[in-house]
Amino acid sequence: MKVTSFFFLFFSLFLITAQETPTDFLSADFHKGRREEVRNLMPDNSVAVFFANAERNRSNDVDYIYHQDPDFYYLTGYKEPNAVLVIFSEDQTSVDGKIYNEMIFVQERDARAEQWNGKRLGIEGTQIQLGFQMAFNGSEFEKSNIDFKNYEHVLFFDFKTDYRDLGGKADLFDLIKTFKVKTNYPSDYNATKQQIYNMITSTDVENSANVAQTLGRYLNYEEALKSDALLTGYVNAQDNGKRKEIQEKVKLELKSNNLNSYMLEEIMNTLRETKTREEMVLLKKAIEISAVGQIEVMKAMHPNMSETEIQGIHEYVYKKYGAEYEGYPSIVGGGNNGCILHYIENNKQKVGNDLVLMDLGAEYHGYTADVTRTIPANGKFTKEQKLIYDIVYNAQEAGIKASVVGAPFQAPGAAAAKVVTEGLIELGIIASPGEVKTYFPHGTSHYLGLDVHDKGTYGAFQENTVITVEPGIYIPEGSDCDKKWWGIAVRIEDDILITKDGPINLSEMAPRTTEAIEKTMAMPSVLDNFTLPSLD
Ligand code: GLY
Ligand code: MN
Ligand code: MN
Repeated sequence: MKVTSFFFLFFSLFLITAQETPTDFLSADFHKGRREEVRNLMPDNSVAVFFANAERNRSNDVDYIYHQDPDFYYLTGYKEPNAVLVIFSEDQTSVDGKIYNEMIFVQERDARAEQWNGKRLGIEGTQIQLGFQMAFNGSEFEKSNIDFKNYEHVLFFDFKTDYRDLGGKADLFDLIKTFKVKTNYPSDYNATKQQIYNMITSTDVENSANVAQTLGRYLNYEEALKSDALLTGYVNAQDNGKRKEIQEKVKLELKSNNLNSYMLEEIMNTLRETKTREEMVLLKKAIEISAVGQIEVMKAMHPNMSETEIQGIHEYVYKKYGAEYEGYPSIVGGGNNGCILHYIENNKQKVGNDLVLMDLGAEYHGYTADVTRTIPANGKFTKEQKLIYDIVYNAQEAGIKASVVGAPFQAPGAAAAKVVTEGLIELGIIASPGEVKTYFPHGTSHYLGLDVHDKGTYGAFQENTVITVEPGIYIPEGSDCDKKWWGIAVRIEDDILITKDGPINLSEMAPRTTEAIEKTMAMPSVLDNFTLPSLD
């Protein structure tokens, strides 16, 4: 075949493939750049090891839909299970003289497995599509000559206990086992203890009172920590001299092996807190899709709808736009059900004339939205519903206004809580500020990104951070206030981009004032004439 016709064929195939499946994923360059940032934050002579997420069983031979670990995805773009990423702080030289600073071990191609469960990228795909030069099959991890003893720090996330031996070769179970053997991972390794040891060594004894206090709390939770003589000694030390003495011993203990299961958390919190331009394209798309879902439901809602049906309309809109998943289980609670903060049964058959609290987020190419609207099923807020709604609305406005560069992470929460407190006192629902937690029992903000509760440092706000601002008031049946408020639950949640020019509401497309909601609910819906045959 001539080169030109070969090129034409290749290009046509590329176009056909491009039309068949989405192409707007994070680029290989993005993931490479993120690995470079990890490397920049790693200490000298260290190696970082990341494992893919575990596959989890739903029932019998059906697993839950696989979801990659967000850190792993952020650094690789690899969406399959049973993989390990290794990043070195400095260049390494292989026996045949190759220079490299990272390796990835992936699932081996397997025609039979792929016939049942879908295509695998394999070594070649990982090299070509994800841009890794040093890609290997998982089975080669055991044979690899990475000598973990040679590094001053081996950074990793300690292991959860919910991964299983699937019987295959080089599954996650085997990869972790290999890592443990290669690193001399002690059978009694305790990640919390390592973290506390780190806290002790990195805090001057002059400021150690706080650490001792925090430590005291940890000791109450974990039996294994109580038996550690250094920790109990530190907590019970009467003076700084004694603490200094223990601190030195803790330092030696930390140095006794090179395993470090706390530093990667700090590194990934730092990186994932702020979003790059490429990430923002996907995150904005997830948020806008979710806002459109809210609009379509507002138009379609009527009192005979079930919570499940309402959930289905949101999720259909997500799929229509190509969002693969929901970022978390959808919450649709009519009336009193809205008082359960993470209500996911969604099985009330008719929402009737109640408020319906809808907290849902599309996940688009890994990035998830988190948007809540609370609307009256019959299209009109009652006087009581509106009074409560407007307090939450004003609290949210205050919270959004406080979401500015340099403000402490707690600023939106403090601003919102003040408005809710004053509002509930004015309505006679509470008598003093101390009671506000009864009706507003959750925080106001979290980071948003690859995870719905995304990673971050919880320090002062930086530009290009996305947070939620989500105050709420929940008054369950039987509450200690006038009956007329019972069963009212309101949460309003928007996704806010913090910029140096102030906050930007990325979900503002979804109507938020009572007037705008009522106006949207009066609009016709394509679902008005959508009927299905009765199966009774
Ligand atoms: N949807 C969970 C949350 O709002 O945090
Ligand atoms: Mn949220
Ligand atoms: Mn939410």
